[in-house]
Amino acid sequence: MDLYHPSEEFVARANVPRGDAHRQLMERAESDPEGFWGDLAESELHWFRKWDRVLDDAEAPFYRWFTGGRTNMSYNCLDRHCQTWRKNRAAIVWEGEPGEQRVLTYQELLRSVQRFASVLKSRGYGAGDRAILYMPMVPELPVAMLACARLGITHSVVFAGFSAEALKTRILDLEAGVVITADGGWRRGKVVPLKPAVDEALEECPSVRNVIVYRRVGNEVEMKAGRDAWWHDVDAGASEECPAAELDAEHPLYVLYTSGTTGKPKGIVHTTGGYQLQVSMAMRWVFDIKDEDTYWCAADVGWVTGHSYIVYGPLLVGTTTVMYEGAPDFPEPDRFWRIADKYKVNVFYTSPTAIRAFIKFGEDYPGRHDLSSLRLLGSVGEPINPSAWEWYHRVIGGGRCPIVDTWWQTETGSIMVSPLPGSTPLKPGSGTFALPGIDADVVDMEGNSVPPGGEGYLVVRKPWPSMFRTLWGDPGRFIQTYWSQIPGIYFVGDAARRDEDGYLWVLGRVDDVMNVSGHRLSTAELESTLVRHDSVAEAAVVGMPDELTGQAVIAFVTPIQGYDPTDELAAELREWVAQQIGKFARPKQIRFSDALPKTRSGKIMRRLLREIVTTQTVSGDITTLEDLSVINRLGAQQDEE
Ligand code: PRX
Repeated sequence: MDLYHPSEEFVARANVPRGDAHRQLMERAESDPEGFWGDLAESELHWFRKWDRVLDDAEAPFYRWFTGGRTNMSYNCLDRHCQTWRKNRAAIVWEGEPGEQRVLTYQELLRSVQRFASVLKSRGYGAGDRAILYMPMVPELPVAMLACARLGITHSVVFAGFSAEALKTRILDLEAGVVITADGGWRRGKVVPLKPAVDEALEECPSVRNVIVYRRVGNEVEMKAGRDAWWHDVDAGASEECPAAELDAEHPLYVLYTSGTTGKPKGIVHTTGGYQLQVSMAMRWVFDIKDEDTYWCAADVGWVTGHSYIVYGPLLVGTTTVMYEGAPDFPEPDRFWRIADKYKVNVFYTSPTAIRAFIKFGEDYPGRHDLSSLRLLGSVGEPINPSAWEWYHRVIGGGRCPIVDTWWQTETGSIMVSPLPGSTPLKPGSGTFALPGIDADVVDMEGNSVPPGGEGYLVVRKPWPSMFRTLWGDPGRFIQTYWSQIPGIYFVGDAARRDEDGYLWVLGRVDDVMNVSGHRLSTAELESTLVRHDSVAEAAVVGMPDELTGQAVIAFVTPIQGYDPTDELAAELREWVAQQIGKFARPKQIRFSDALPKTRSGKIMRRLLREIVTTQTVSGDITTLEDLSVINRLGAQQDEE
């Protein structure tokens, strides 16, 4: 396989150029991890009080970083830059889907954050409280996040595509006091209302005392007296001074829910000090950020990628972060390239699903724009197939931009495996190596490293600063899911291969979690949603390989007697999932069947269903199958071999 090397020009200016610089970084991280992270924490961040210990493992796996240290995310993102030339630099360059533009400098952003923090503070919220943020991609979302961080209010952003039901579950789990939302947002030229979902969710959420509503689209919304207030009303008179609280390094910054192998989403808890450090370092090492860069991560702030690499990472290092509200193909499929050209974006980060969609749209669209400002490209969320990688490299990167294929998770908080663009020779489709200070490995079930060329489970052997600390309200599940499969080692849930040259290739999930368009969906959550519908007796959900979205959701459904397996019922069930979870979770196909393949003990054999949707045949061991005829009834052939 051809290796792709960075150009001499790129290497010459790289933050970590190949050769000694890269080697020394790796060696120091390995020989003295605590000294390594401690020195970086000192040079990268502001601390109101220095820590006593870099890493405290007394209660492992509940690791603690920079214990005794006091710091503040909002201060590190804003106040300290405003004491330098950066104060008038663009912090956020925003474009709305209809085409409006806003540029907020670091000073302006700091003022907005202080005003909104004052609003929250005057309503009695502070360290220890929880806020839910359910907003479109407007600058007020980072403003609200930073205002919470400033006061120590733990925020939980709920992706605006989630339904009222999903929103309610999260509010209840966190017992949040305040919900920050908007009337709606723009998506493909249409208004997507948000406030009605909040109203519906709040019918059963007694903890919520205040709702603050940002007016984005101007549609009619109902405001409940005594509970709801308009953002512009409360913001207008608020004080522009609201100092950053001196918070413990382990203060919970945010909780972000993600799907697991059960029906209940997991509240991933991230804290402040270590998270700040590792996302900062990723900006420098992986995105190679320079003072003159304009950086654009085209994700949604509602997912972890947006938290770490639209909001916190870019602002921590004082760069300009581009934020785009809407769909990539609106009004035409060249929207992203129009934005990249217009703002002269230098570093661009997106998902393989988006890249595959662009391949389908055709080269004419990027060809209409001058993309010569781009110097570095990134990919995240799912394995990138080599042909998509090569298209991205050639068509978007003009053959000159290294691509950083970054592997990480909501749980890891920050990038863990990625090339260093000025050093690592690239292989399309491989995340290459673990970053400095990250001890990732591929192992068998006993925890032994697999030999070069072997496949196994991806794990992380040593704690890392931006690691999640626990699951909200469920420390038992934290241990059970992540630290018990191979005792004492972080079990990622992905299969991986290490090739002869030591390069890592992430192959996909090993649990019942699907990855659709880079979004994690839980089989169990979808199944329990389907069986809650009146017509469904049983449901089994599997992922089918999909050219565009990586995987697509296929649901096998056995209807209750009396319900006919019609197209109308299939449509109704798809709509039901959209209503209960969100449109992005809607199954691509509903396949009705009067029975599902089960073991004699009654367990659904998803492996067989996966084979059926992938190959239309069933091979391998089916001796545990209770009723062989089910296979034929599902329309599959039985492989004789
Ligand atoms: O399966 C891996 C896949 O996405 C999972 C994490 O999903 P989530 O927590 O939603 O975070 C996505 C954005 C960080 C992983 O367990 N994944 C993520 N990045 C890659 C990837 N698979 C292969 N290559 C990647 N670069």
